[in-house]
Amino acid sequence: MHFKKNVLILFLLITFFNCKKEEFQIINPQIIPAPQSQEITEGKFLLSSDTHFVYDTELEPAIRYWESISESIFGLNTGKSNTIRFVFDASISNSEAYKLKITPQEITVKARSAKGTFYAIQSLIQLLPPEFVSKNFKSKGLNIKALEIEDEPQFSYRGMHLDVSRHMFSVDFIKKYIDAMAMLKMNTFHWHLTDDQGWRVEIKKYPELNTVSAYRNETLIGHYSDQPHQFDSKKYGGVYTQDQIKDIVAYAKARMVTVIPEIEMPGHSQAVIAAYPELGCSGEKVEVATKWGVFEDIYCTKDETFNFLEDVLDEVLELFPSKYIHIGGDEAPKTRWKTCKDCQDRIKSEGLKDEHELQNYFITRMEKYLNSKGRQIIGWDEILEGGLAPNATVMSWRGTNGAVGAAKSGHNVIMTPTSHCYFDYYQSDNEDEPTAIGGYLPLEKVYGFDPIPEELNAKEAKYVLGAQGNVWTEYMPIEEQVEYMAFPRMLAMSEVVWSTSENKNYKDFVSRVESFHKRLDLLDINYANHLYEIQGKMISDGEKSFYMLKTLTDGKDIRYTIDGSEPTLNSEIYTSQIPISKSIMIKAAVFNSEKQLGKTFTQNINYHKAVGAKIMIDKKPHKAYSGSGAEGLINGISGSDTRYGDKEWLGFWGEDIIITITFETPKEVNSILTRFHNGNGQWIYAPEQIGFSFKLKEDGRTINDINLIKNNSDLIVNHSYNMEATFITEIEIVIKNYGTIPEGKQGAGNKAWTFIDEIIVN
Ligand code: ACM
Ligand code: ZN
Repeated sequence: MHFKKNVLILFLLITFFNCKKEEFQIINPQIIPAPQSQEITEGKFLLSSDTHFVYDTELEPAIRYWESISESIFGLNTGKSNTIRFVFDASISNSEAYKLKITPQEITVKARSAKGTFYAIQSLIQLLPPEFVSKNFKSKGLNIKALEIEDEPQFSYRGMHLDVSRHMFSVDFIKKYIDAMAMLKMNTFHWHLTDDQGWRVEIKKYPELNTVSAYRNETLIGHYSDQPHQFDSKKYGGVYTQDQIKDIVAYAKARMVTVIPEIEMPGHSQAVIAAYPELGCSGEKVEVATKWGVFEDIYCTKDETFNFLEDVLDEVLELFPSKYIHIGGDEAPKTRWKTCKDCQDRIKSEGLKDEHELQNYFITRMEKYLNSKGRQIIGWDEILEGGLAPNATVMSWRGTNGAVGAAKSGHNVIMTPTSHCYFDYYQSDNEDEPTAIGGYLPLEKVYGFDPIPEELNAKEAKYVLGAQGNVWTEYMPIEEQVEYMAFPRMLAMSEVVWSTSENKNYKDFVSRVESFHKRLDLLDINYANHLYEIQGKMISDGEKSFYMLKTLTDGKDIRYTIDGSEPTLNSEIYTSQIPISKSIMIKAAVFNSEKQLGKTFTQNINYHKAVGAKIMIDKKPHKAYSGSGAEGLINGISGSDTRYGDKEWLGFWGEDIIITITFETPKEVNSILTRFHNGNGQWIYAPEQIGFSFKLKEDGRTINDINLIKNNSDLIVNHSYNMEATFITEIEIVIKNYGTIPEGKQGAGNKAWTFIDEIIVN
């Protein structure tokens, strides 16, 4: 008897503590993207099945969304203990704006449309404990902090792109991607459905698109630049059926996301020509591409092509009700057109100047067709070639020049420059990152993106509709990897397009991302986590140098060593800049009180004679690749061997440059080492010519070796200039840009980039 009573008490106690554990704390508001204004007030609101909701019918689609979530968590709505009021408010000018007021008695949402209401609901969800988003979560009641939010987006186009040609993903995954976008208040899904490596949209009139163009025989293994190319011998492909597409488009619509399909033309069409060779210029059979890149077999400009594309678009328009249809337009080599009778006849009969104007003819003709169906076109910035189609919206990817030109001539533009928006680039300089296409685009750089190019005045800036993160999937064979590359950079992009610059602060964003991890975990999203890593920087004060370490999140220690050993919980805690007077290796990591959190940071410092000298470059580096400025070229730190574009590399686009290094006290110099990046896939070429000159100590005389080094067959990647030890006060280095990218290479006809890193003077 006695025993049983104890057991009962124990049981009650356990139950009590379990219940306690299941209660969720009220969370601090940490909404991503940051709202326009937010004010915390007194008290809390208890959300439960007893929360009654009332609404104006104008807001209905968003209410249905809320109802289904709320019912699955709290059960059937029964009571009337408190209220959520969804109010139609015609005085709100932006249809995506909302007001959210939470008091202990009532939640009021005001909006002018279902969209604004939907975004209020997304904010509300982020104000609830993260568990709220997990599958099968049930609750009896959850508290929300009382507050008031007024919010609206900065840009009307808030996009994410996904390439499903290079690799294809399940319908469930596409929905998961759309859900993540909706959570972040992004409203446009740019679905890249066709390319050289596979056609992905079922077209009933042309069945071989679905059976031939949709499949490649095998796929390149490893990186494109690994030689020789190797293939996996596995057939790969498929299409999304029209029913699947309709289902996805409806799913997106319920989440206020518009799906814009991209049907590529005239380039990136080899997969189609594989099934219908008559649509190419030569009529010869080609294969669906099995490796990445730009291909010369593009659509011919004969009438059959236009008839085919109009038929295809007729079916596409049935599936996608979007105002915009993306017709590609990028990377279309003109090789075949130059020798094709049909294309040359077209140039003559239309009175065109050349193949570039023929590209414009192609795009404009398709634009007219789509305009006649009540739709507008978007194209990559190559649609500016040979003149711009009259009503086109330009998606600017090769830097921002295309956007500037288009906006100045009154065309809408969407910003997706590779430098800030290509999420297929590496996001960390850790050597063990999964293979990516190249480049370097860390979270902070995405976050720092301003979609309005500085060349535009306020009136022209109105033509910038917004921006978009692009996810090209050559190197993302599986869904987990798409997530790894897209997150957390999608979070940063959501804030770029939604939040005002006054509300943007990287350190604050990072702390919100840190909290957001829990949500991403519960959503089973495989995000990259580089928040617990270390950033280092050399700083010079006169001829003295120091090394500074920092990490992004608060409340943790940086511990470091300078003897090459791994940092541990016993290593020295970093408290102030480390003086540097010789070559050393710094290793450091972030620790909490128990363990190391992120990866170990390793920095080799090569303390050479130019460290701490003065440096000038006659041109500014391109603003997208300005690294740590000219000083970064003589700070003792070499750029990453694989991530050009990190803060040690400087990029110049199409310009010759002159670098001058001046010593306060004359230096005895034996050699000068320079290094350039040669990543031709990213349009980066090492120079063919560099030259050196020096000022001597005693007489100020100059030795001039300019243009001595010139080699037209080999590009100068690593160069060591050796000289007899001489005391000098100044070094001048002249670097000639490679020039125009030759035919047959990626980016042919564009200016080449020059990327340079550390100049080592011994
Ligand atoms: C592109 O990245 N070719 C638009
Ligand atoms: Zn042709």
